Amino acid sequence: MGGAMRENRYDDPKFFEKYSQMDRSVKGLSGAGEWETLRPLLPDFAGKRVLDMGCGYGWHCRYAAEQGAAYVLGFDLSEKMLQTAKEKTDSPVVEYRRLAMEDMDFPAESFDVALSSLALHYVEDYRGVVEQVKRALVSGGSFIFSVEHPVFTAAGSQDWYYGENGEILHFPVDNYYYEGKRNAVFLGEQVVKYHRTLTTYLGGLQDCGFLLSRVAEPMPPASMLDTVPGMRDEMRRPMMLIVAAEKR
Ligand SMILES: C[S@@+](CC[C@H](N)C(=O)[O-])C[C@H]1O[C@@H](n2cnc3c(N)ncnc32)[C@H](O)[C@@H]1O
Repeated sequence: MGGAMRENRYDDPKFFEKYSQMDRSVKGLSGAGEWETLRPLLPDFAGKRVLDMGCGYGWHCRYAAEQGAAYVLGFDLSEKMLQTAKEKTDSPVVEYRRLAMEDMDFPAESFDVALSSLALHYVEDYRGVVEQVKRALVSGGSFIFSVEHPVFTAAGSQDWYYGENGEILHFPVDNYYYEGKRNAVFLGEQVVKYHRTLTTYLGGLQDCGFLLSRVAEPMPPASMLDTVPGMRDEMRRPMMLIVAAEKR
């Protein structure tokens, strides 16, 4: 399937509008609950060629550039996300391109670092992307990504079970070993995501010749527990998984 055929919720005006009001869209990395956990896992960007897959507004691209990256290519499927990214970016080393992860075909060893923040759970063929990343990276290159946690994506609804008075009872984990498509509700809209087990995420990297360097399940930062509504409930189940790996 060619890139032009792919559909993306982020290009839907209603969804885009809601996404643009999220803390992470307004404040950037400091408004992203996982940033404190992700940042220490990022490599030294000085002089590096960096790829950001599903770059959205380009926060991580600009961060890499600020940290001295020589070249940053951010790509995304959504025209609207890229438009905002371009408006927010004023750096000669950052370039944006419209591309689907499924259609990646970069020259071998053309990047030193590959990043992907919260985008890989939109892709059905994870292994295909990992193979492409491996090809695109130099040996010793870093691949760091965050995804929605398998515990969070398993059941599909991505919502709590509530009691009679609307109080939270628990979070459902179901059909864990049945990987694949889930019809989730994100920002009140139907969104298609893909569930994968932890084994698939981590083992998939190892099978392709990556060395796992770090795995993290970010907790909400203490500073946000009382200031961001609902953040305390984020202590009840993992929502994200962060993985750092190195191409051998
Ligand atoms: C939750 S946003 C994250 C954006 C950005 N990485 C960040 O952390 O701020 C997910 C992004 O993935 C993009 N996306 C979804 N499916 C994609 C695909 N198949 N190929 C490339 N980008 C995709 C969406 O358009 C959206 O911009």
